[in-house]
Amino acid sequence: MKIFLIGMPGSGKSTFGKTLADKLMMDFFDLDKEIERRESLPVQEIFHEKGEEYFRIREQEILREITQQNHSFIMATGGGAPCFHQSMDFMLAEGKVLFLDISLETIFERVQNSTDRPLLALQSSEALLERLGKIREERLSVYNKAHSIIEEKDLTFSYVMDLLLRKES
Ligand code: S3P
Repeated sequence: MKIFLIGMPGSGKSTFGKTLADKLMMDFFDLDKEIERRESLPVQEIFHEKGEEYFRIREQEILREITQQNHSFIMATGGGAPCFHQSMDFMLAEGKVLFLDISLETIFERVQNSTDRPLLALQSSEALLERLGKIREERLSVYNKAHSIIEEKDLTFSYVMDLLLRKES
C-alpha cells in the first residue's frame, strides 16, 4: 500500500507518518528530507538560492521517483506538494491520500517559532495567521480531493488503521 499524507505545514504529517510507519513496519519517506538529501541543501536554502519554481520541479520529480521505485510506503509530503504539477492526481491514482485537516489555531501554534519554512517567514503573528489562512483557503479545494479527510480529534493510530482497513475492503 502507498499512503500519502497531505496538509498544511505544521499539521503533523511527518510526526504522525513516522509513528504510523513504525507501528505498521512500513518504509517511511519525508519528501522534504528526500529533496534536501538529493540537493545537499536545506529547503529554505533551495528556495533562497534556486527559487520556488525550481523547488516545485524537484519536489514533483522526487515524489514520482520514490512512488515508482517503491511498492509500499508512507510518505509525508510538503504542504504545497499536492498543489503543483498535477501531483494530487498522481497521488490519487497511485495510492491512498489522507488529508490531515488540522485547525488553523493548532497550525499557528506549531509553526510560529519555526525558522525553516520559507513561505512562512514573517515578522508578526498577525501577518503569519493571515498568511496561513490565505494559503489554506487557496489549497483547500485540492486537499479536499483526498480519499480521506482526518480531523484533529481523529488523528490517532487506531482511527487511521480502521480507515485504511475499511478502504481496503
Ligand atoms: C511548503 C511546506 C514545507 C516545505 C516548503 C514549502 C508549503 O513542508 O515543503 O517549505 O508550500 O506549504 P511542510 O508542510 O512539511 O512544512
